[in-house]
Amino acid sequence: MQASLLVIFGASGDLTRRLLVPGLFELFVEGLLPQGFAVLGVSRTAHPDDSFRSLLLSAAREQAQGAFDDAPFREFASRVFYHPADLENPDSYAGLCARIRSLCADRGIPGNIVFYAAVAPRQYASLVRRIGEAGLAVPTDDLPGFRRLVVEKPFGRDLASARALNREILSVFRDEQVFRIDHFLGKETVQNIFVFRFGNGIFEPVWNRNFVDHVQITVAESIGVEGRGDFYEEAGAVRDMIQNHLLQLMALVAMEPPASLDGGDVRGERLKLLRSVGRVAPERVGEMCVRGQYAEGEAGGRKVPAYRAEKSVSPGSFTETYAALRLGIDNWRWAGVPFYLRTGKRMARKVSEIAIQFHPAPSLLFKETACGQLESNLLVVNIQPEEGIFLRFGAKEPGPAVCVRPVDFHFSYREAFGTRSTPAYGRLLLDVMHGDPTLFPREEEVETSWALLDPFLRRWEEDPARDLSFYPAGSWGPPEADALLTAGRDRWRTP
Ligand SMILES: NC(=O)c1ccc[n+]([C@@H]2O[C@H](COP(=O)([O-])OP(=O)(O)OC[C@H]3O[C@@H](n4cnc5c(N)ncnc54)[C@H](OP(=O)(O)O)[C@@H]3O)[C@@H](O)[C@H]2O)c1
Repeated sequence: MQASLLVIFGASGDLTRRLLVPGLFELFVEGLLPQGFAVLGVSRTAHPDDSFRSLLLSAAREQAQGAFDDAPFREFASRVFYHPADLENPDSYAGLCARIRSLCADRGIPGNIVFYAAVAPRQYASLVRRIGEAGLAVPTDDLPGFRRLVVEKPFGRDLASARALNREILSVFRDEQVFRIDHFLGKETVQNIFVFRFGNGIFEPVWNRNFVDHVQITVAESIGVEGRGDFYEEAGAVRDMIQNHLLQLMALVAMEPPASLDGGDVRGERLKLLRSVGRVAPERVGEMCVRGQYAEGEAGGRKVPAYRAEKSVSPGSFTETYAALRLGIDNWRWAGVPFYLRTGKRMARKVSEIAIQFHPAPSLLFKETACGQLESNLLVVNIQPEEGIFLRFGAKEPGPAVCVRPVDFHFSYREAFGTRSTPAYGRLLLDVMHGDPTLFPREEEVETSWALLDPFLRRWEEDPARDLSFYPAGSWGPPEADALLTAGRDRWRTP
């Protein structure tokens, strides 16, 4: 891989400190960064290079929560530089260009530059415009090589704004230069869905409406808004989580096999799936969703405040911290199979999983026995915190009577492979440097996801209190969510 320079806008922020730099450091430790690779952090706060490196080191020590060896981090940090600049001031860009030129020259980087927009979403468009105006988006004689752009989520706040942002970005960069990041796609277990489905002979034949009763996708967080109340007030659970992570998981679980592993083929199949998700008519939106907001409760053995009492949150806020949706896919494979998506903050446990519930076996044979109703087979892909898969099936309980009890087959990534998986951000940054777009949603995927959610968002814009229920912090969400599952037949899993 050729050497490249990663320019992070928003370098003094939370994302850089907590996710980007640790991801890069892991790549460095594994020897996956190219020779000559360098990072240039940009934000307004004034830091000399050394003080910026010290900040990153302190953050890394804090995250390690135990023994931490400074030496490799210091070696990695010698490749990290800092440039103070206000990206909203057009005059800043001449100085930035000069710094980029001198860094590339000093470190023998042949002008390959990745720009990472880790600033507030409202700043994405003006940042990209100014990168273009400064002439940084195209190769020049002194800075040949590639130019790529990584854009963080949220990508827009509805269909119209996502389209406008795509237009702005694509007026400066070509689509193949743009990487819209959804870090869930960088998780090892999420990528394994693909291998599990298409690399084994026994699962794909039952992966359809003839065998699957319904699918539940859960992304639950035990934390609250963690001081990011101002951001969350603007977003809410649907924009923050469902538009990107949950719909992408749904696409991976339900898509058809692509013609090849090529980025174009894989993204094309994800898009086709998203396009097959049934649009919800405005008058039916209320039946298809439940919104919730956490009230005071208990988390991790201590009392925690209600969302409305969090810093930077309005005491009368109607922003949802929980959302559950029932969606359907109108295609030959999935017609009639409900897909339930739910996400929330301050839930009972931090867990992300996809649960495939199969149709029950006929229980005639066991009707007269002590076991009563048979449980259906269940396949669960655990995305976090314990990466793995389990399959639940019925087994005969030892003893003279015939009694069927559900038991689980477990596969754990940690036990099977003995290594920690590469952090999602590290993996995705590596793909950006390689120019591989497979794990990044393309323009139409983002817009199709927003188009699906627009009827829900419009309903709540018209009446912000609509469909909103409250749940105690530390629970599994509002009880109203149970009614979303088809006629009491299905139940939410308690992971
Ligand atoms: N944090 C997360 O866990 C997370 C997860 C997923 C996605 N994201 C997305 O990542 C982006 C960044 O989030 P964050 O949590 O890191 O935000 P943050 O902590 O508020 O950081 C924002 C950064 O932008 C810089 N900045 C603001 N105005 C600027 C300007 N005019 N010129 C130059 N720099 C400026 C700030 O530094 P100065 O004040 O020093 O200028 C700071 O470094 C957001 O789009 C967010 O939605 C964050």
